[in-house]
Order: sequence, then structure tokens, then C-alpha cells
Amino acid sequence: MAAEMRLSLLIVLVVFPCVVFAHSWNEAHATYYGAPEGTIGGACGFEEYKQIYSPYTAALSPTLYNEAESCGACFEIVCVNTTGFCKKDGEKSVVVTATDLCPASDARCSPPHVHFDLSQPAFHLIAEHLGGDVPVKYRKVSCKRKGGAKFTITGNPNFNLVTVTNVAGGGDVETVEVKAEGDKEWKNMKRNWGEKWETSEVLSGKSLNFRVTTTEGEVVTSKHVAPESWQFGQTFEGKNV
Ligand SMILES: *[C@@H]1O[C@H](CO)[C@@H](O)[C@H](O)[C@H]1NC(C)=O
Repeated sequence: MAAEMRLSLLIVLVVFPCVVFAHSWNEAHATYYGAPEGTIGGACGFEEYKQIYSPYTAALSPTLYNEAESCGACFEIVCVNTTGFCKKDGEKSVVVTATDLCPASDARCSPPHVHFDLSQPAFHLIAEHLGGDVPVKYRKVSCKRKGGAKFTITGNPNFNLVTVTNVAGGGDVETVEVKAEGDKEWKNMKRNWGEKWETSEVLSGKSLNFRVTTTEGEVVTSKHVAPESWQFGQTFEGKNV
């Protein structure tokens, strides 16, 4: 019996080793933008969530931004010293969260370019300020977050807009579903813009459950996140991988 239990424990450990992952390295270029202390821009709708994402953030070229699907994803970036502007400890990498779009109208970001416009604190960790535009290598990595995913509900009784933040693991959200207490089925929410998801289902006065699926296929269900008495403008904390 004990041996069987040890075996099943072993199987669990082998099948679910941990949530950390890293994709393979690819080439890109990086510049910096925004204020010296950091910026998290506007395209993902994360301005009010500086305490979660700042100071290491990035605006992605459309090739990486993928119509907001990459909002919240984490990328590890290292400087490639072909121009001689990498920091002395060139081995050092920075992990940034995608919070903004570097538009195609910016020549460096127009397709097919693969580009990271980094916050200044992120850029300065890996390259000299004078470098301006440096070659880099990047890979998508697992996001580490403190606590559970957060759901901020705004809008009005006929139009609910939920901003999803602090998602760990994949970090970038593929689908958000909501189930109000008493409903049998999960209802798909629609991406409105950035990491803001809409539904015209009647949610007011009902306790809410959310189910988030990341682009890495992680599915996290947050039960009874908001109580019946929830109000527009409030933020609720759910679960994370
Ligand atoms: C990058 O190249 C410059 C110029 O060749 C050199 O002085 C510097 O030490 C190099 N930095 C790293 C991190 O290798």
C-alpha cells in the first residue's frame, strides 16, 4: 500500500513537475521609451496596475502583440553585443511584462520587425543608454506573480467590463469565462480592448465565478470571487496557477 502511494505521488510529480516554462530563444531588437522610472503605456489597459507590473515592462511590435493577446505575457531579454552597447555583465537578462503596443507606424516596430520598446529601467539593466537600439535575444517565460489573478469590474448593469490582471504562468489570457451564481453554464466573455473583457449578461446582485485560460493552455477557475454585494469599480482576487 505504502509503495503504491509512493508510486502515485511519483506519477503526480512527473506529470505536473511545476508551472515554470520557457520557450526557445529568438532574435529581436530593443529600444526604450517613457519616463526614467518606468511606464506601462496604454494599449493593454494596465495603467492603474503599476504596483503589479512596473518597472520592467515592454511595448511589443504588432508581430508579438498579436492584437492584445500577448498583454500580460512575460519575456526574458538578453542584450547581444554586436554594437558594443551591452552592459558589462552581458550575461544578465531582464524579464519584462508586455503592457503596451509599439505601433506599426513606428518604423522599428512595423512588420516584419520583431521589436521590444522597453521601459527605461528594463533597458538600462541590459544595455547602455547611448546604445539606443540594440540587438537582443528573447524568449517567452513563465510569469511569477504574488497572489491570485485580479478581476476589476467596471461598466454598468447592462455592460460589464472586467480587467484581468496579475495572471501567473502564461500571463497572457486566451479566454475569460464568467458564471454567475445560479447559472448552469460558463459564459464566454469577449475581449473589448487590451486585457478588458466584456459581457452584457446580467451579473449585478450575483456572486461571480471566473475561469481564465492562458495561451499556454493553463486553466484557472476562481470560485465565488465576487460576493452578491459586489459594486462596479471594485477589484477581487481569485486564483493563479
Ligand atoms: C561589448 O563590446 C564592447 C566593444 O567591443 C566591449 O568593450 C564590451 O566589454 C562588451 N560588453 C560585453 C558585456 O561583452
